[in-house]
Amino acid sequence: MTLIASHARANITQAEFGKTPDGTAVRIYTMTNRNGLEARITNYGGIVVSLKTPDRTGAMADIVLGFDSLAGYTSPQHSYFGALIGRYGNRIGHARFTLDGTQYKLAANNGENSLHGGVRGFNKVIWTPRELPDGGLELTYLSKDGEEGYPGNLKMTVEYHLTDANELKIGYAATTDKDTVLNPTNHSYFNLKGAGSGDILDHMVTLNADRFTPVDAGLIPTGELRPVQGTPFDFRKATAIGARIEQSDEQLKFGKGYDHNWVLNKNGAAPSLSARVEEKTTGRILEVLTDQPGVQFYTGNFLDGSVKGKDGKAYGRRSAFCLETQHFPDSPNQPKFPSTVLKPGQRFHSTTIYRFSAR
Ligand code: BGC
Repeated sequence: MTLIASHARANITQAEFGKTPDGTAVRIYTMTNRNGLEARITNYGGIVVSLKTPDRTGAMADIVLGFDSLAGYTSPQHSYFGALIGRYGNRIGHARFTLDGTQYKLAANNGENSLHGGVRGFNKVIWTPRELPDGGLELTYLSKDGEEGYPGNLKMTVEYHLTDANELKIGYAATTDKDTVLNPTNHSYFNLKGAGSGDILDHMVTLNADRFTPVDAGLIPTGELRPVQGTPFDFRKATAIGARIEQSDEQLKFGKGYDHNWVLNKNGAAPSLSARVEEKTTGRILEVLTDQPGVQFYTGNFLDGSVKGKDGKAYGRRSAFCLETQHFPDSPNQPKFPSTVLKPGQRFHSTTIYRFSAR
């Protein structure tokens, strides 16, 4: 199954990436496009391990946080670097939801709430890999009925493609045999100067969103869709991440910075431009296109330098940002939010594109 019409052929090669603590061998795939962009992805957690893109002079840098070896990813760290997230990306309040009159209990792994699929989410499982004819990578995983508390045998497929237009395209598809909820995403942490090159406060961000979902102290949405107008959450014009992040604002206090879901302005169902980030010293630009209704813009507020990543570099506070395309947090408990319910006979699919350029 090819989810996305691909624009051309990438070259794909594979190699061993190591063994998990229980002895399972894991692979790493290297995709290269004709412009020399390179993405390395492992079937452990579907993690984007590295992503090399050119700056305005053509110099390549790896712009995503992560680890040199599998051990970094299997060790108990809580940052989800580069990983596929599911079944439910982001938070579910009180770690429970009710569907068709049945209450489902989830792991409370973030205070009293459930975060990013529970204890062993999509980021910690081994996906079945397959190289696609266009040089893309397909990853499939059967999440069994009851896994992490979620109902239904969920057959999940994720495709990564690297196109000649310098895009990393991610396609998600799923079917279930019982009513369930689903909200998959990817949790790459970007620093357009290069991973481990200081903070991202000078990156200029534009978000195509007139509203965001304010949260309580546990980062669960209150249910309100609040206009960004006149708040530090207004990124409708390109603004430095650091320009307002320390303002005295209750929402910024709850998130310890930006850690919120923006309600994307939408005009139709196709993936549309939702976010743009520009880093002036290197000229690198990231554009994010998605068909999802929201995006979690997280500014790495919980990184504290204790984790040493690639090349032994410490990842300090706000040394990267994430743009996690998604449905709104806690949707299973928020009847007014767009539904995340998937039923037997339906096929879930979504597309997110990370597009890279420099000027
Ligand atoms: C959440 C943050 C969390 C981070 C890593 C983000 O999606 O919104 O609160 O710290 O993931 O777990």
